[in-house]
Amino acid sequence: MHTIFPVDRFSALDTPFYYYDFDLLRATLADLCDAMPADGNFRMHYAVKANANPDVLRVMSAAGLGADCVSGAEIMRAADCGFSPENIVFAGVGKTDREINIGLDCGISCFNVESEPELEVISSLAASRGVKAGVALRVNPEVGAHTHANITTGMAENKFGIAMNNLDKVVDMALSLPAVELKGLHFHIGSQILDMTDFQALCNRVNELQERLENRGLILPHINVGGGLGIDYRNPDGNPIPDFKTYFDTYRHHLRLRPGQTLHFELGRAIVGQCGSLVSRVTYVKQGVRKQFVILDAGMTDLIRPALYQAYHKIENISAETARPTYPYDVVGPVCESSDVFGKAVDLPLTRRGDFIALRSAGAYGEIMASGYNCRPLPEAITSDSLRRDDDLESMTECRSL
Ligand code: LLP
Repeated sequence: MHTIFPVDRFSALDTPFYYYDFDLLRATLADLCDAMPADGNFRMHYAVKANANPDVLRVMSAAGLGADCVSGAEIMRAADCGFSPENIVFAGVGKTDREINIGLDCGISCFNVESEPELEVISSLAASRGVKAGVALRVNPEVGAHTHANITTGMAENKFGIAMNNLDKVVDMALSLPAVELKGLHFHIGSQILDMTDFQALCNRVNELQERLENRGLILPHINVGGGLGIDYRNPDGNPIPDFKTYFDTYRHHLRLRPGQTLHFELGRAIVGQCGSLVSRVTYVKQGVRKQFVILDAGMTDLIRPALYQAYHKIENISAETARPTYPYDVVGPVCESSDVFGKAVDLPLTRRGDFIALRSAGAYGEIMASGYNCRPLPEAITSDSLRRDDDLESMTECRSL
């Protein structure tokens, strides 16, 4: 199962837009659910930050996933899109009072707390509402992830989490505060991780910390190991669905859960990454001094990952239905920044003005990170379901007009 672009349907549409293949998204969710142990003690909270498109969120909530949110606005959107509050958790180093109150009023299950002052504020805001806030302590496990420096989070120099040396003190504080209920520990080591030994190292760390707490008579109901499983950006059609089984097996074999404990996950990219592509039209093909440029109507404002992380996204000319000779092109956007480049010396079939170009594997951290720089409009989003609905409507109208 991989994305087949309905290019004939695209010709009536303005570009650029995100195209979401919901058949692939649903197949990915089916594999994910199959790979989770049947006993129900693994729980998945989809990381809304990866893609908060309401249509995408509705598919996630309908599949029974919870939501991992990082702002008050994400909590509200998740609740609007069908996630029930007891399946929503709230993370982030800088939760404002207003956002904490949104979480409390909504009745979310857990705040992932990153510092002592935040714990105090949550307790006092909960107390003034006469409620108890569920909290998990985010621990910085000092486990490195072999991924891009901008997306590692679990090392001492990162701003995230509570230092392991401080954990006992913060646990004492959580136990003594009147309006919080200490529910668990939370970890997250980074993103786009493909080497299972990184997750194994996290399991070893969690085991150590659990023993430390157990020695003082504490077993917390939840262990949350965050997200981070990566996808195959080089070969989206060969590997459209990540190997969830090996991922969960790593935790099953290496993390020692106590009876009654549940293990929580917060995957984002692995679930939504491969189902999305940014589709654009070629505005110009320009002959430079030494190279040829393909200039798209999509730019770094629509997909910032290449400019920000030097990230690779496979670039395809989806209009080249019949064989054309191949040439190397630099594929660039229209924004007035020299980093507005999607790929250099990319081999593409002979490319012409008006061709559709797809930037693949853009379902995660694509649309949601778009900006309005240069006063450019935010990209639209189209789903395979919505195209199908349009087809149905069209055929209904045809029937009526008979
Ligand atoms: N949980 C926490 C606490 C996180 O910070 C993140 C991502 C996730 C879960 C979900 O991680 P995932 O499963 O998607 O790897 N904009 C960057 C990625 C930033 C990730 C931030 N945290 C990118 O485009 O690569």
